[in-house]
Amino acid sequence: MPDNHITTESDGDLDSSNRPSTTVSTNTVAEMLEHGQSLFDNSSLYFGHGTDNSWDEAVYLLSFVLELAPDVDRAVLERTLTAAQQAAILALFQRRIDERIPAAYLTGRAWFCGLPFTVDERVIIPRSPIAELIINGFQPWCSAEPNRVLDLCAGSGCIGIACAYAFEAAEVVVSDISPEAVEVAQSNIALHKLDYRVSAVESDLFEQLRGEQFELIVSNPPYVDADDYASMPDEYYHEPELALASGDDGLDFTRRLLREAADHLTDAGVLVVEVGNSWVALERDFPTVPFLWLEFSEGDGGVFLLTREQLLEHRESFQ
Ligand SMILES: C[S@@+](CC[C@H](N)C(=O)[O-])C[C@H]1O[C@@H](n2cnc3c(N)ncnc32)[C@H](O)[C@@H]1O
Repeated sequence: MPDNHITTESDGDLDSSNRPSTTVSTNTVAEMLEHGQSLFDNSSLYFGHGTDNSWDEAVYLLSFVLELAPDVDRAVLERTLTAAQQAAILALFQRRIDERIPAAYLTGRAWFCGLPFTVDERVIIPRSPIAELIINGFQPWCSAEPNRVLDLCAGSGCIGIACAYAFEAAEVVVSDISPEAVEVAQSNIALHKLDYRVSAVESDLFEQLRGEQFELIVSNPPYVDADDYASMPDEYYHEPELALASGDDGLDFTRRLLREAADHLTDAGVLVVEVGNSWVALERDFPTVPFLWLEFSEGDGGVFLLTREQLLEHRESFQ
């Protein structure tokens, strides 16, 4: 897979050490980035949709207008911008501030596992920590490459499509209850020319997948609880509520999934599910279930793994 994503403070060529110390105009790329950073810093924006700071956000939007590659050389900082380029970049900066639209919706493009995805307000912007598991081939839990993978609650299809890159012979199904999300997933399958082994299905949970089994089911379902949903930064309300909210404690969908998943896993199959902060409520509700909370390079991801065997063993708890 190609390198992870757009330039960031820590790993990109346009990193913080290259920032100019003063801003007098927006004539050069460096001046424009410093201006964007300063605008964003003074607008109390929330960064949680692909970047985590104002500099990277400015780089992301500017790179889109100038069509810069993620690994562009730092010499680009000295490039002079045309008046039209300056106007286009400033207009994007302003929309980001005025409308609190996440940058990826402004560009229509997001990155996941180093791969590009088309996104718009029909799907959430990819950001799942599951990316790290995919890049590592779900080791050591998938000792053999899975033949069939299901990305349940697929949104843009980013998880399933990235799995298709990780498991080069696997057949992948991406499913979602939202017909609009399925359209976006289909466009991403086409973008990656994976139609021959990745398919998109509109389905409420397993409803349209009766009788189908998979070695690996991966899911980043809606899991935000009602309190958290009511107090999210404005940026999140541009994303579909159906993709985020899941009842009072955020677990309405996950409870259904725990009840039904075993029927759709092969004997050695595993289920990997992201529940974020709702892991606390899950542990409280199912104290005897041995959820394996997976570790990530950057802290907790709120992602658990259960084998089919464990799901069967605790089936009664899930009823
Ligand atoms: C958090 S988003 C995840 C999208 C994508 N997997 C990602 O990581 O970017 C959750 C998705 O679950 C879908 N969803 C919600 N309820 C569902 C259900 N009952 N059955 C299938 N999909 C559902 C939503 O439409 C949304 O696209």
